[in-house]
Amino acid sequence: MISRFFLEQLKNSCPVEEIVSSYLNLKPLGNNKFVGLCPFHSEKTPSFVVYSATQSFFCFGCQVGGDVVSFIKKMESLDYVGALKFLANKSGIGFPEDEIGGFNFGTRILSANKEAARFFHGVLKETDFAMNYLKKERKVCQRTVVKFGLGFAPKSWDSLGKHLFSKGFSLEELLAAKLLTKAQNGSIYDIFRNRIIFPIINSRAEVLGFGGRVLDESRPKYLNSYDSLVFKKSNNLFNINLAKKSKQIILVEGYFDAISIVQAGFGNVVATLGTALTINQAKLISVYAEEVILAYDSDEAGVAATYKAMNILNGVGLATKVLDLSNFKDPDEYIKNRGDIRFKMALANSVDAIDFKLNNFKVQFDINTSAGKVAFLKAAAALLAQLNNRLTRDVYLGKISSEMGIDKQILMSHVNNLIKIHIKKRKSIEQKNIARNFVGNKRPRSAGNTTCLVKSEELIIRSLYGNNSLFEILKSNCPFELFVSENKDIYEVLMYNIEHQLPVEMPCITGLNSDLLAVLSRILAKNFDFQLDFNGILECVKTLKKAKQQLNAAGVSKMAAEELKGYIEDLAKQKRC
Ligand code: GTP
Ligand code: MN
Repeated sequence: MISRFFLEQLKNSCPVEEIVSSYLNLKPLGNNKFVGLCPFHSEKTPSFVVYSATQSFFCFGCQVGGDVVSFIKKMESLDYVGALKFLANKSGIGFPEDEIGGFNFGTRILSANKEAARFFHGVLKETDFAMNYLKKERKVCQRTVVKFGLGFAPKSWDSLGKHLFSKGFSLEELLAAKLLTKAQNGSIYDIFRNRIIFPIINSRAEVLGFGGRVLDESRPKYLNSYDSLVFKKSNNLFNINLAKKSKQIILVEGYFDAISIVQAGFGNVVATLGTALTINQAKLISVYAEEVILAYDSDEAGVAATYKAMNILNGVGLATKVLDLSNFKDPDEYIKNRGDIRFKMALANSVDAIDFKLNNFKVQFDINTSAGKVAFLKAAAALLAQLNNRLTRDVYLGKISSEMGIDKQILMSHVNNLIKIHIKKRKSIEQKNIARNFVGNKRPRSAGNTTCLVKSEELIIRSLYGNNSLFEILKSNCPFELFVSENKDIYEVLMYNIEHQLPVEMPCITGLNSDLLAVLSRILAKNFDFQLDFNGILECVKTLKKAKQQLNAAGVSKMAAEELKGYIEDLAKQKRC
């Protein structure tokens, strides 16, 4: 077992396009593609393509494909571990020999973190003033302390270090875990001192890092673990381990906001880690939830951040609502002042993103003047034109026109014009995408549209690769059984890895043998430019369902696995659509 942490490092330091070009001459082909003469068969015109976006390669001539590791395996005639060592050497990251045998570095860092969390938690229980701060000043009860595994880092330069050394962790491991640090004069000391500690735990219950807050007014108020081999602030969320069971997730800015909300009875809350929401964090939420309630600070910065977050969340297909905190600074203050029940009501009253935006337009434009009213209506029309749901649109058309005292029909025709322009643009892109993939074999063969079936499988896999936000829609619409070819194994691995926050991109992806990796590389190569959106995906799922029915009708379901495989391969060979 090679650790995913080492593979992550390898991914960052050995881009496939760079490694390949040290062996052959690659020419850019646009859009993250490079082409060269295949080193694995003799050819005069180049058909060997390297894709930096997917970190894979494929030869359209001899059909060889894979990732940077498969490339080195073939080029240097090495086995898997040999190729890893070769690459580690070449890029200077070094290959920790104890990678083999499961006692690897990343796992050691995780163990050190877990032990540190235990230590901090134990210290908190024995430190009255820290416990008092939590209970009296922050209204955090004992049960909540335990639920989050909150801790306290003592005011000492070396108590965590001493403890972890006594547990057998090495200096190298503790420095890499970012639990200890080395001063310029060479002295080693604990990073977290005299702070309340919040362990940051991922969906697999691993402790990735910590947040720490001072108990007084000193600065910085919060300190977060620096990024490490196992932790990236911009990819993780506080409390995702508890919140992941929910379809609706509340998103907040602060640790204490999340804690107060959980204590108020809502486990479905996550907090960013001191930075603005990133696409990766939104994707992580979208793996579990369908809707996000934004509960950022109520100040100007919070509103600006809410807007940005809304766009990011919408971008990954999450519906958004916004919580109104009335005059309170943040959810924590709200709950402390108004109580759990009022908070529950506020949650229920959270306005959807449209109302939130319209309300802000009203503040932005002075609707008491004619010019302001026109500006408001223009902005509102543009917003309504973006809505997909006709009913929702109609409700808002009615609401706005009566509020502004104008004729609904006039507003509607304005919005409709905008929509026409929109649709024209979108249709041409979508149709190009979908139609280009389904041309060809339109007539059902004996056992149905089998080649379209395989093509749909491929398009789903292509679109899912590197786009975790499709997980939710596929999970609810596309069970594994819909896949009939060997692509099924790939689909299962991608879905499993996304669900469990395991790596899904080459060369870190786990769970695929080299044959399946080659198949995946072929799929990525042949469908490289097709990243379907939700509608495209649903279209593919529909095709799978239909083809499956036809296959069943043709008695294919009774074939043995091998026979079925051959049958499908034959059909796919006859004609690919
Ligand atoms: P409390 O004062 O404890 O209620 O904190 P808060 O969450 O209300 O404070 P604030 O709105 O200032 O901060 C929100 C989040 O931003 C915190 O939970 C931290 O994750 C992060 N943050 C705040 N201050 C700092 C800081 O000084 N350094 C870093 N790295 N992060 C900070
Ligand atoms: Mn606060």
